[in-house]
Amino acid sequence: MTTGTDLSLQGVTYQPGPLLLDDVSVTFPAGKVTTVSGPSGSGKTTLLSVAGGLVAPTSGTATYAGRPTWQGNGDPRPEIAFVLQVYGLVPILSARENVAIALRARGLPWEDAGDRAESALARFDIADLGDRQVEELSGGQMQRVACARALVVEAPVLLADEPTSELDQGNVAVVLAALRAEAERGCVVVIATHDPAIEEAADHRVTIDGGRLG
Ligand SMILES: Nc1ncnc2c1ncn2[C@@H]1O[C@H](COP(=O)(O)OP(=O)(O)O)[C@@H](O)[C@H]1O
Ligand SMILES: [Mg+2]
Repeated sequence: MTTGTDLSLQGVTYQPGPLLLDDVSVTFPAGKVTTVSGPSGSGKTTLLSVAGGLVAPTSGTATYAGRPTWQGNGDPRPEIAFVLQVYGLVPILSARENVAIALRARGLPWEDAGDRAESALARFDIADLGDRQVEELSGGQMQRVACARALVVEAPVLLADEPTSELDQGNVAVVLAALRAEAERGCVVVIATHDPAIEEAADHRVTIDGGRLG
């Protein structure tokens, strides 16, 4: 894993039609938890999508370890893991399979992937749900499966889009502690949120409104 490497946006605009990101320059440091907060529709998800290389900036650059995060096709680089706002889970697979897939995609054999998936689910107190099909889970349970899947690959960059929006306070604390632990092992951790408790716990805070950083 690469440590001590920041994720940086330089002069990024994103204008698929409307101007959604307006000249955004920001550095998300390795080893720190950074929150991106702002009202609904302010551009948080768009910012994370450009930062993580899911979409190309219209101008400017998003770079990690000296290379653009955009690889020309929307495939994220293997160093970048996401907790997507709509979870991005496969509904007909079990919770364990959804987590194991992330490891399979990185070449692990099924058996090892299954074991690691099991421990990742346990970190979020849902080990007992491993065999359940995701479509049978509650929103909060799915959100924790999505967190487990993002963390299990131990990527050096973790972009989490409102990862706690459907969780009770106890589980918010569990997720926050897990994200904090990722930062402590040198990871870039970025959390889009409008939960003041998460902002409070962050090392750095970035605000966005109308596609512009505050
Ligand atoms: N591809 C797109 N084309 C046009 N508008 C978009 C597109 N994607 C998002 N938007 C709009 O961009 C704004 C910012 O969206 P988003 O980044 O999802 O905000 P947030 O995550 O802060 O709620 C919203 O007004 C949304 O409707
Ligand atoms: Mg959003």
